[in-house]
Amino acid sequence: MGMPNLFRGLSGIPVGLALLLQAGCSDLLTSTPDSGDQLDSPLEGLSATERAAFVRGDEEFARRFSPATGLGPIFNDVSCAACHSADGRGRPGNALSRIGTPDEDMLRSWGGPQIQNRAIPGALAEVVPAGVHVSVRLPPPVFAAGLIEAIPEATIIANADPDDLDGDGISGRVNWVVPPPWVPGTEPGAGPEPRVGRFGRKAQTTSILQQTVEAYLQDMGITTDFLPDENRNPLAGHAHDAADRIGDPEVPAGTVFAVVNYLRLLAPPAPGGPTAARALGEQLFAATGCAACHVPQLQTGPHPIGALAHQGVTLYSDLLLHDMGDALADHRPDGDADGREWRTTPLWGLRMIRAYLNGDAFLLHDGRARTIEEAILLHGGEAQRSRDLFAGLSPADRAALLDFVGSR
Ligand code: HEC
Ligand code: HEC
Repeated sequence: MGMPNLFRGLSGIPVGLALLLQAGCSDLLTSTPDSGDQLDSPLEGLSATERAAFVRGDEEFARRFSPATGLGPIFNDVSCAACHSADGRGRPGNALSRIGTPDEDMLRSWGGPQIQNRAIPGALAEVVPAGVHVSVRLPPPVFAAGLIEAIPEATIIANADPDDLDGDGISGRVNWVVPPPWVPGTEPGAGPEPRVGRFGRKAQTTSILQQTVEAYLQDMGITTDFLPDENRNPLAGHAHDAADRIGDPEVPAGTVFAVVNYLRLLAPPAPGGPTAARALGEQLFAATGCAACHVPQLQTGPHPIGALAHQGVTLYSDLLLHDMGDALADHRPDGDADGREWRTTPLWGLRMIRAYLNGDAFLLHDGRARTIEEAILLHGGEAQRSRDLFAGLSPADRAALLDFVGSR
């Protein structure tokens, strides 16, 4: 099963994009949902071809796998959409457990770093072993991934201050990551040199394509042209290999590119309208130092997809790593990120968080905070000063700041 023509590349246009630009336009989206109130709307200003690609990828993102279509042998869930519900964040029940120990061989013998807690009939699910560090990761939203990807590395690097030269107590660091060699060189964020990590809770992934391929394999047990060998529970032995009878690779590169293009074309949800309280809240957001990490806007660079080129991305994040203190530490390094560091979480879609989680809200990397205020009060490390300034605000000012953040 080859994929050579997918990798030929067209005059410098990333291959996934090239496919997209060539896709047929028979499947036009005839009506658009109200984009501001959805987490799964396409960007505005897409061409008919781009819209058709969006619709095709949407189907793949929602597709539920079963043992008959390749699921497993071990897995965490059956579709991308099962964990990223309506393209927003997941619930604690969808969280992934990544285990860590300095002994790499031991880690692998347990089936780490990611533990697949489900298995198809005949296979054996993995369990988190006792005595290791476990990093519990709630699925983040996937909307606006293309805008995040289109922010030039130099823009992200410009906000980094690893040695805190400006003395504000905040030292954002880039997670420099060497991408795996199977990421086609035509994809944004491809190797062989270290690239700026921007996806994942510790910014440990540099491209949408890598995130997608690894999600297929690790989260669902679906092999692709990029990673054609099944992920197995090392404690199960070979008897269990026969449980998944579907030939590998289980989905072709074209399906992967469909999902990648879908994620690339997703719009961010719109923030709520302006009010006097929100205007005050926005000022306090800057005054208490939130904006030093939750940088309100970053700009995309040039891009072959017009809707992604030279856009202001109002993500409230610098996409950098910050030491967030003991309470939030997972003590489990990830690439260059240490056990106390996390990527500044973008603050958007919060206005609708409860609508998509049955009235609940789950914030921070493991979903432990149930309100925005609780999430802020758990900030430590580099954010300690900002957190303390927030805690010291008058009740009215605090309410205004929370209203502002909650309206993003
Ligand atoms: C079992 C639940 C689960 C499934 C299934 C799943 N994901 Fe995820 N996804 C996660 C978690 C958890 C993270 C955060 C991982 C981390 O930080 O280590 C994540 C992160 C991501 C991100 C990065 C978002 C960001 O801004 O950091 C993207 C994009 C993504 N997933 C896409 C997909 C796609 C595409 C699929 C299907 C092919 C998929 N996911 C399937 C749980 C899941
Ligand atoms: C030093 C950098 C830094 C500062 C300053 C900072 N934050 Fe954060 N913020 C982060 C990081 C990193 C996370 C992710 C922590 C985690 O998941 O454990 C985060 C997470 C959050 C979350 C949770 C979002 C979600 O979807 O889970 C909210 C809300 C938030 N911050 C609001 C604020 C507000 C409001 C302020 C100012 C009072 C502030 N932050 C100051 C870095 C910072």
